[in-house]
Amino acid sequence: MHCQLMERGREAITEYKKMFEPIQLKHMTIKNRIVRSATNSAMSNTDGSFSSLDADMFEELAANQVGMMITGHTYVSPQGQAKPNQPSMCKEKWVPVMKDMTDRVHSHGAKIVAQISHAGAGALVTDQPAAPSRMFAGGGRIAHAMTHEEIKDTVRAFGQSALIAKQSGFDGVQVHVAHGFLLCEFVSYGYNQRTDEYGGSADNRIRIVREIIEEIKRTCGEEYPVFVKINSNSYYEEDAYWQDMFRFVDILEAVGAEALELSGYDFSSFPASVHCFYLDRAAALKKYSKLPLILVGGIRNLEDMEKVLEVGADMVSMARPFICEPDLIPRLMSGQKSSSCINCNNCHGLFLREGRRCIMHKG
Ligand SMILES: Cc1cc2nc3c(=O)[nH]c(=O)nc-3n(C[C@H](O)[C@H](O)[C@H](O)COP(=O)(O)O)c2cc1C
Repeated sequence: MHCQLMERGREAITEYKKMFEPIQLKHMTIKNRIVRSATNSAMSNTDGSFSSLDADMFEELAANQVGMMITGHTYVSPQGQAKPNQPSMCKEKWVPVMKDMTDRVHSHGAKIVAQISHAGAGALVTDQPAAPSRMFAGGGRIAHAMTHEEIKDTVRAFGQSALIAKQSGFDGVQVHVAHGFLLCEFVSYGYNQRTDEYGGSADNRIRIVREIIEEIKRTCGEEYPVFVKINSNSYYEEDAYWQDMFRFVDILEAVGAEALELSGYDFSSFPASVHCFYLDRAAALKKYSKLPLILVGGIRNLEDMEKVLEVGADMVSMARPFICEPDLIPRLMSGQKSSSCINCNNCHGLFLREGRRCIMHKG
């Protein structure tokens, strides 16, 4: 039986050869094309540190063929903290704890990138949430429109957090511009009603992201990899947003982004029968730009991964499948047809209430 599985593993590597080929980005080489997308684990400590459960999880992924993993969103300032047990990237005292964690990942030849974020109106911990423009922030709160001073402070906070990530052994950072948090609010129509240089045109709405990347390059050096995750679609002004995406890509490439990870605001809404939610958008962007592209959303098996690479995307990324089965890649290589994830989305909340991460298994 063991021999059969080994045989199937070898076949899978030959058949899906590209997935297992190393990739050279601008400043980073990764052993294969498989990414664990940023996923808030809800297992971190309320003092802002990653827990031993987080470190165990990352090491398990690294030992199971994930070439690059991206941490769940970490906050760059107390104002941007989304949840009580979210890890911080703004507290230098946790550098040694994070260094142990990144060392464990590196011992398996994998890379680990820290996602850095400000939750904007989604910051549930602060009494005074901030957003590009005044807006509802949930829980009866109103987010105020950020002043120029606050924007500059936030840009600096991203730079300082990236430096802490670098000192902690992370191979790079990913700036979180997706899923409705602060930077997503800035690039989106609807949430951003500003009339100054941070609102209006595509160039203006992406300005804060550009300034953050420039600041990170200043604090961490030109060579330190800066990834960006962004929605490929938008709840408001969908057509205009998609047109702007081409301009965003040009600007991100010009400012030295390492790669762009493409997601979507509606990733939770698809049934398990729908795969590769944003494939067409990835194909269109790859025809337009050479900026390396990582695609996430509904990728569930080796055929899906192959399809993603065939349209020109450079890496495949998954979140829920790795919560469900951290050893998904060896399973697929041993003949399992597809991820067991059923897109129930209970991983968004179940573990908070019951200490479980997935309804498909315990622990
Ligand atoms: C429980 C959970 C937590 C998530 N946390 C983050 C996060 O911290 N940062 C982020 O960019 N995306 C986060 N996501 C979104 C995923 O990274 C991914 O974009 C999305 O789940 C679609 O991919 P999938 O179909 O492979 O799950 C989260 C998703 C889930 C289900």
